[in-house]
Amino acid sequence: MNGWKLTVVESYADMSRLAADIVQHSIEHRPGCAISLPTGETPRGMYQELVRRAQDGTIGWAHTRFFCLDDYLGRGKDDPFSLTGWLERTFLQPAKFPEGQTHLIPTTAANPHDAAIDYERQLASAGGLELIVLGLGANGHIGFNEPGSAIDSRTRVIDLTAESRESNAQYYEGDATIPGQAMSMGVGTILEARRIVLIVSGESKAGIVQRALEGPVGPDVPASFLQTVSAKLEVIIDHPAASRLGTSQQPRT
Ligand code: GLP
Repeated sequence: MNGWKLTVVESYADMSRLAADIVQHSIEHRPGCAISLPTGETPRGMYQELVRRAQDGTIGWAHTRFFCLDDYLGRGKDDPFSLTGWLERTFLQPAKFPEGQTHLIPTTAANPHDAAIDYERQLASAGGLELIVLGLGANGHIGFNEPGSAIDSRTRVIDLTAESRESNAQYYEGDATIPGQAMSMGVGTILEARRIVLIVSGESKAGIVQRALEGPVGPDVPASFLQTVSAKLEVIIDHPAASRLGTSQQPRT
């Protein structure tokens, strides 16, 4: 089932440039399309590249719609933990992404369940996702779809595992207590995107990359569900993160 396109890059900068190229290509070829991009350390370089291109006029957002992938539950944009706040500071504001074209995942809604259903409706009215770029959690999560997430799961509230909370605590100074719940697009929501790009960097992810791309498909490693949509999956990864992929791998390059 290894039909996905694999690009093993020489450097983090190459990965970031390539991911930014795909974002640019998507929005230029599908004006007005909807995209979703991740938070975390992995996409920082991609955002720097996109901001640079937006500021020098190489890329324009026109009618592109941006849908947030995930965030901690109940945290407004100004909360220090807010991933949406991080996204605004890192990308949306410096890249001058039009505010009216941004769909924030409704983590602060009074009724998160109904709000999540409405978020899916907004996505459907925007024509579905043309492109989603994903990072990979240390335990194989995509978005915040933790182990146990079903292949057909939709945008919803999710209990975070101790492992994810611990691994995300490193991004905050001091004695950060990571919130216990998040809201995330579901695995099913993600798999419906017409183009899916997974970016991974660093040796610490080599084991989970191997399980996600070559291991059994199932909810223990939610990223393994990407194998079921391999024809539209592109993996951009550096050598250390790719180091455990088997030699039987026959990538489309
Ligand atoms: C975080 C986010 C994901 C992200 C992943 C990897 O918890 N919820 O959207 O892709 O974990 O993060 P990083 O790139 O920092 O390793």
